[in-house]
Amino acid sequence: MKVETRTVPAIIEMKRNGQKIAALTAYDYLFARLLDEAGIDVILVGDSCAMVFQGQETTLPFTMDEALYHSRIVRRGVRNALLVADMPFLSYQVSVEEAVRNAGQFFKTALVDAVKIEGGRGSVPCIEKIVAAGMPVMGHLGLTPQSIRAFGSYAVQARSEKAAQELVEDAQALQEVGVFALVLEKIPADLARQVTKKLEIPTIGIGAGVHCDGQILVAQDALGLFTDFHPKFVRRYAELADQIQTAVKSYCRDVKSADFPSEEESYR
Ligand code: KIV
Repeated sequence: MKVETRTVPAIIEMKRNGQKIAALTAYDYLFARLLDEAGIDVILVGDSCAMVFQGQETTLPFTMDEALYHSRIVRRGVRNALLVADMPFLSYQVSVEEAVRNAGQFFKTALVDAVKIEGGRGSVPCIEKIVAAGMPVMGHLGLTPQSIRAFGSYAVQARSEKAAQELVEDAQALQEVGVFALVLEKIPADLARQVTKKLEIPTIGIGAGVHCDGQILVAQDALGLFTDFHPKFVRRYAELADQIQTAVKSYCRDVKSADFPSEEESYR
């Protein structure tokens, strides 16, 4: 299979051509390489790393140093996919200057293709400056996990008419300021359809229905590796946690019964 190299313009072009965009998260070299070689369009070093990789309760504790470390090691495994790094909580909210400097760290030291920033009109001033400095930004609206303490739960967002209207306005403001793609998380499918139709930039849904221009999932959820919870929007494409545990049980059994290593697995 010929795999095309994905750039920011190429991802925007996919929407114009009616091609769906497939995106997954990765936090390490091994996963990044597997996803990239399988032909994924976009790899996100999500701050979900805090929950899935570090075992934290929310994404809030994820730091710039950790985000940069994971972005750098993922970079080594990515050849063709567009590599996007999540900007962690408080790396862009304090001041525009700090936001630009922190965004720059991802491009300078981890060689990412883009950063992702949560929030609507409140994030516009920093996004504007980051984009103006030549750094592509992916937006993120709906259930934005860095605001979990304000939301109080992981419930579906923008269900009321007012909240839906606000989300549409936020999406337009983000497009105007230059974001090249927009993640829509956990919102009604009909609202995501409306936003997708209105925008020229691609929408990438997670729990936002089939009408988005692309879909993103946490890879460890989709592969059945992270099983702490199973939201209904996650389709499981494998049950790797079960397979790993079965394999580890076999290994323990073989070691304890002295069945491993065999003659062939030993040196003379
Ligand atoms: O952090 C993350 O993994 C994300 C995606 C799931 C959209 O933001």
